[in-house]
Amino acid sequence: MEGFKEMSKNDDFIKERNKVIRKMGENNFIKKLGLDFIKLTHKYKYSYNFSWLGRPIIQYPQDIVAMQELIWEVKPDLIIETGIAHGGSLIFSASMLALLEFSRVIKTGKVLGIDIDIREHNRFEIEKHPLSNKIKMIQDSSIDETIIRQVYDFARDYKNILVVLDSNHTHNHVLAELNAYAPLVSKGSYCVVFDTIIEDMPEDMFHDRPWGKGNNPKTAVREYLKTHPEFEIDKSIENKLLITVAPEGYLRRVK
Ligand SMILES: C[S@@+](CC[C@H](N)C(=O)[O-])C[C@H]1O[C@@H](n2cnc3c(N)ncnc32)[C@H](O)[C@@H]1O
Repeated sequence: MEGFKEMSKNDDFIKERNKVIRKMGENNFIKKLGLDFIKLTHKYKYSYNFSWLGRPIIQYPQDIVAMQELIWEVKPDLIIETGIAHGGSLIFSASMLALLEFSRVIKTGKVLGIDIDIREHNRFEIEKHPLSNKIKMIQDSSIDETIIRQVYDFARDYKNILVVLDSNHTHNHVLAELNAYAPLVSKGSYCVVFDTIIEDMPEDMFHDRPWGKGNNPKTAVREYLKTHPEFEIDKSIENKLLITVAPEGYLRRVK
């Protein structure tokens, strides 16, 4: 009886939390504060400020926490990531898989990272990291047909797959990545598309980049979802984070 009471207290807490998160999602003023924060910190390259277990990770802390929650919930045995840079996100995913293994939630897990340009010093640091045995890296474009085939061959041995897209942020590139890798996402798991926020930022903010308003991960997600009802945007994530570079980018596979 005591246990039942405690369980229902937990349920009440989660119900109340979900209610508040929904309310925040309806509050345009508070949502704009989040967007303004990103707009104003972008010129300081705020997302470059953090490291995960020693490796620089190019993410906002809020999104890192959301990824932790997702990985614990989904319990993937394979995480496929496009865009390695300094390796922080690979090390983060590897550390989460190591925790899932340690807790005996999964038997063994792997991270597969693809980057067109893995700089020597980054490769060196990633390969000598204590978690490197959980990581496989491929150097080439993520939308190259041979590479896509290689990823599918590798994925064949895994049952529960989560995908993270964070490489070239143009519409065509992300759409090609979605077409290539979203089918690998297991039911109940996620395809996370980073930097959809570009669509919500001022026109001239990315003047030195091939992407910008109208040509970015969010426009690619919107086009992809038109013909892929097996994915739904998990709005609850952006509603609770308020500060996220992936609005409309947390895609849950529902069928
Ligand atoms: C934003 S960084 C990745 C950050 C990393 N996920 C993290 O959280 O630390 C983008 C990376 O995408 C890579 N990239 C650019 N074009 C690519 C392509 N066509 N295929 C694969 N990777 C690409 C770049 O070399 C760069 O390292």
